[in-house]
Amino acid sequence: MEHQAARSEYKKVWSALSTTENQAKLHVIGVTEEAAFQATGEETLRFLQQSVGIGKDDVVLEIGCGIGRVGKVVAPLCRKWIGCDVASNMLSLTAKRLKDLSNVELVEISGHDLGGVADASVDVVYCTVVFMHLESWDRYNYISEAFRVLRPGGRIYVDNINLCSDGGWKVFETHRAFSPADRPPHMTQNSTPQEIETYLKRAGFDEVRMRTDDDWIRAWGTKPKEHL
Ligand SMILES: C[S@@+](CC[C@H](N)C(=O)[O-])C[C@H]1O[C@@H](n2cnc3c(N)ncnc32)[C@H](O)[C@@H]1O
Repeated sequence: MEHQAARSEYKKVWSALSTTENQAKLHVIGVTEEAAFQATGEETLRFLQQSVGIGKDDVVLEIGCGIGRVGKVVAPLCRKWIGCDVASNMLSLTAKRLKDLSNVELVEISGHDLGGVADASVDVVYCTVVFMHLESWDRYNYISEAFRVLRPGGRIYVDNINLCSDGGWKVFETHRAFSPADRPPHMTQNSTPQEIETYLKRAGFDEVRMRTDDDWIRAWGTKPKEHL
C-alpha cells in the first residue's frame, strides 16, 4: 500500500486533489454546481471589500488561488490579479476559468513562499480557505512573505475557521475522531484569533483588525507607510 503523503507535501497532496474540475471544486469550497460555486466567490469578494477593499489601480495577489473562484470576481475590479498556488492542476483550471480576463498572471509557488514575486510590488494580498490546510509555520511564512511583496501602505487579508467558536469546535471534534494514521494530509486545522493576530503583528503589520462574529476568523492589516 502506498504511504500517505505528509501534510507538508503540499504540491503532491493538492495536485492529487485537483485532477478534474469537479474534484477541485469540491476541495475548494464543497460545491460543484456552477451558479452555487460562483455565488461563494461573490460572498468572499464582499468580505474583501468590507476589510482591505479592492481598488481599480490595485495589484492584487491571492495565495492559494485554487481554480480562480475569487479571482474571477476580483480581477475585473483591479489593475492586475496575480493568482499563486502550489498545485499546477489548480493553476491550469484557473487559466481556463479566467481566460477572458487580460489582467491575470499565474504563479506556481513552492508551498511556503512567494518566490518569483518582487519586493514591494503588490497593493493587496489575500489568502482565503487555505490556512486550515497549512502547518502553522507556513501560515506565518506566507504572512511574512506578504509583508515583503506588499508596498508600504499595502493591505493583507487572511482567514481560517475559529477554534474558539462552536462551529470551529465541532470541526475539531469531527476530525479528532480520525485515528492518527488515517488523518488525511489536507484535513482542516483551525486557528485561534490570538494565533493570527500574533502572526500579523510579528510580521510587522499595523492596524490589525479582526472579525469573529461567526465560525471564522477574518483578519486584516496594513504594512506601515513609512516602511522602506
Ligand atoms: C480550499 S482551496 C481554496 C482555494 C481558493 N483560495 C478559494 O478560496 O477558492 C485551497 C487551495 O490552497 C492551495 N494550497 C494548499 N497548500 C498550499 C500551499 N502550501 N501553498 C500555496 N497554496 C496551497 C491548494 O492547491 C488549493 O488551491
